[in-house]
Amino acid sequence: QLTTEQLKEKIKEYKKRLNVTIVAHFYQRDEVFEIADITGDSLELAIKTRDDDSEFVLFCGVGFMGQSVKVLSPNKRVVMPKAACCAMATMIDGMQFDASVKVLNDAGIPNENILPITYINSNADVKAKVGEMGGMVCTSSNAKKIITTALKEGKKILFVPDRCLGQNIANQMGLKSCVIGDGTNPADADIICYNGFCSVHQLFTMDDINFYRKKYPGILIAVHPECDPEICNAADFVGSTSQLINYIKKLPEDQKVAVGTEFNLVNRLRPKNTFVLSSTKPECPTMNETTLKDVYDVLKSIDEGEPLNEIEVDEKTQKWAKIALERMLAL
Ligand code: 13P
Ligand code: SF4
Repeated sequence: QLTTEQLKEKIKEYKKRLNVTIVAHFYQRDEVFEIADITGDSLELAIKTRDDDSEFVLFCGVGFMGQSVKVLSPNKRVVMPKAACCAMATMIDGMQFDASVKVLNDAGIPNENILPITYINSNADVKAKVGEMGGMVCTSSNAKKIITTALKEGKKILFVPDRCLGQNIANQMGLKSCVIGDGTNPADADIICYNGFCSVHQLFTMDDINFYRKKYPGILIAVHPECDPEICNAADFVGSTSQLINYIKKLPEDQKVAVGTEFNLVNRLRPKNTFVLSSTKPECPTMNETTLKDVYDVLKSIDEGEPLNEIEVDEKTQKWAKIALERMLAL
């Protein structure tokens, strides 16, 4: 069995020899994050990886992220050390998307008056459905911009799958939102959200915010927009993973901050005065599945000519999902 140091050495050797770029999201374990060539939030990873010219992309993250690379650059070979799925992305499939459109139709809103937007945390089949209906993708860092542009078409926005991101953007923009099934007539809302969520970001509560504000008066609260609207409304800063990192790095050293996002990111942020905004460790189980040994095994499989966990997307799905992603990138 190889030690961590031996694994790192072997990975370095493979990287010198093979035409591979290693990509990692901020939520990856430290030892995996440290060996990556490209890191960033979901939007940055999609853009930087698309512009990279290695034959293989070894993506350390969750399924929808590797899939988005394959959709944008079908000629690249994308492999993932673990076939890890984002739990939120699995909350909606193509059929559930169609059923959501029908809820709007039943409320008297025809398809031509619906503009669907999917958070990038969704599988390619949902992105393809959205693309085919004239809609587009957004990420946590550009959702406001995408929705502002979309609203210019004067249509109702069907936002999937994250109800929190959809509601948070609506609140920021002074728009009316609802969640399918909450009893509101979709015709009365500007943004109609699907009822998906991230269980990791649901861990942060008002009790946590009140606890820190009482314990450390003057502390700042910074959270990801996948947190509940109540949490985002009470926070001092709301942003994507990269936006959170940039905000926190610029704070004076003695400024305390409690952060509402995944543990691995918060833990490597800043040695002092940075707290996890939860008494329960907010770990994303599937992001955490990827280990150095998995990265080593995938590199070995590429070297042996039989890559493990290679991502494939069928032609029709790829075509429409790409259109939905490119509409976002064009903005
Ligand atoms: P970012 O786009 O902010 O990196 O978020 C991805 C994610 O899955 C957050 O839970
Ligand atoms: Fe998905 Fe939540 Fe994990 Fe992000 S933290 S990858 S939204 S399950």
